Amino acid sequence: MAHNHGKADWTDDERVQRMANSYKVRYDDRFWKAFSSLTNRDSQPVVADFGCGPGLLLADIANRFKAHTAIALDESEQMLALAEKNLRELTKLESIDIQHVNFDTDEIQMEKNSIDFAFSGFMLHEVANPLDFVTNVKRVIKSNGIFVVYDFVSGNEEMFVKTVARQGMSEEDARKRYPHMCKHSADDIVEKLETSGFSDCRLITIDAVRAVVVGLKR
Ligand SMILES: C[S@@+](CC[C@H](N)C(=O)[O-])C[C@H]1O[C@@H](n2cnc3c(N)ncnc32)[C@H](O)[C@@H]1O
Repeated sequence: MAHNHGKADWTDDERVQRMANSYKVRYDDRFWKAFSSLTNRDSQPVVADFGCGPGLLLADIANRFKAHTAIALDESEQMLALAEKNLRELTKLESIDIQHVNFDTDEIQMEKNSIDFAFSGFMLHEVANPLDFVTNVKRVIKSNGIFVVYDFVSGNEEMFVKTVARQGMSEEDARKRYPHMCKHSADDIVEKLETSGFSDCRLITIDAVRAVVVGLKR
């Protein structure tokens, strides 16, 4: 199989640690401002992060939305172990559900209509079939629940190289990865949510390389 440059090896401990260390840079004030204005919700009892990585965003969301249950899904055991530790240390959740799943090949083992708030960060560009993935997420969201997608977007290679340099990526790697990691435009992401049946889709472009998109399940 050809190497997927959009997808790093998330079983590598150093990479896993780098992902955790860069959390505050990737989820900065500009992200939270966009997030707040797109979500504008108070309490969300069941929250889930698809491709949760180190679980730091899921912990912040669980606290912000006063959730009682958080569901962390990822294909990397290393990431899930870190997510479980972070969720235990940083939240007072009643229930922490850790699910090992590869969205490209496995079913999401969850009842239909079970999540109030779903999230995916820096993840959509990594899945083999984004439309199938978004459709599967929609199935497990409750009616009136929302899905927020945050990702790199296409259009500005130079800014992408600068941005990921701050997270420790070499210029050569960044240029090689640009077409894969910035695979979608913000409008492409909106279109995927709409095609999967999400309503009231809205987007905020944070800067030249990042966007946040939200869709409502009616
Ligand atoms: C760039 S990391 C982002 C992690 C986290 N969302 C964050 O922003 O801190 C991408 C994550 O998605 C997971 N991932 C990528 N493709 C996946 C797939 N097909 N199924 C399950 N998880 C996947 C990886 O294991 C990794 O933890």
